[in-house]
Amino acid sequence: MVVAGVDVTQKSTESCLLPIGVFDSGIGGLTVLKALMERLPQERFLYLGDTARLPYGSKSARSVTRYALQTTALLRQRGVKLLVIACNTATAVSLDALQGAYPDLPVVGVIRPGALAACQASASGKIGVIGTESTIAGGSYEREILNMRPEAQVFGRSCPLFVPLAEEGWCTGQIARLVAEQYVGTLYAETGIDTLVLGCTHFPVLHQAIQHAVGPEVRLVDSARTTADFVHDMLVRQDICAAPRSQGRQVSFLATDGGERFARVGSLFMDQPLRTEDVELVDL
Ligand code: DGL
Repeated sequence: MVVAGVDVTQKSTESCLLPIGVFDSGIGGLTVLKALMERLPQERFLYLGDTARLPYGSKSARSVTRYALQTTALLRQRGVKLLVIACNTATAVSLDALQGAYPDLPVVGVIRPGALAACQASASGKIGVIGTESTIAGGSYEREILNMRPEAQVFGRSCPLFVPLAEEGWCTGQIARLVAEQYVGTLYAETGIDTLVLGCTHFPVLHQAIQHAVGPEVRLVDSARTTADFVHDMLVRQDICAAPRSQGRQVSFLATDGGERFARVGSLFMDQPLRTEDVELVDL
């Protein structure tokens, strides 16, 4: 199969040089991209935020799967050698559909890595999971955690308002704290969890407010670092690791709307300045 002029079925040097595609509904997936860039400094990345259709978390599985297939089609057309679904909601509902539609494209989701991080962090096996409505209602974190630790107890809670707060860049301060208090302020007292999975890629930027609300006894984990480990292992298994980069940009950004906002708030997520002109607007 030829993608962007490169035969990706051959493990050629050229196909190893293709970027890794990463997508999310918005800028939340940048928390995963950052971990990927740190873990895999020799790789190049193409990030797509489907900002025109955010949030995914309150939409039906059918719609989110349609969006995920469209974002993947565009990334594939641009030429990516591996796909990271940097969105828990899309991973939960469309990982199987994407793997079925692109059997020759290695696809990594964030839920199994997030579940692994939680199982490794928890001593008691009492694990809380917060995410979008769709992720929590679908129960995929609970299934993955129980697969790894059958004796675990999993307590899910949906926190949909965290997504617009993060997209607005209101990550700290009184409003973030009040919302966090409302969602998770009683979680520890009610369940005795020792670990809380931030099961939405937008949530790590609200880490401070969530930690304050849930209390110091609870350890917060997310899927970013373990996802980067999964991607590393997949690249090695597939024999598609890039050679050390000598020059060129490590990452390019695409968004379906709001390039200025993407750059402004994305700078907070990435801890490095992004410029509006660095974000290419695309239609899906
Ligand atoms: N960042 C996404 C996730 O990890 C979803 C946010 C949304 O669009 O609702 O679930």
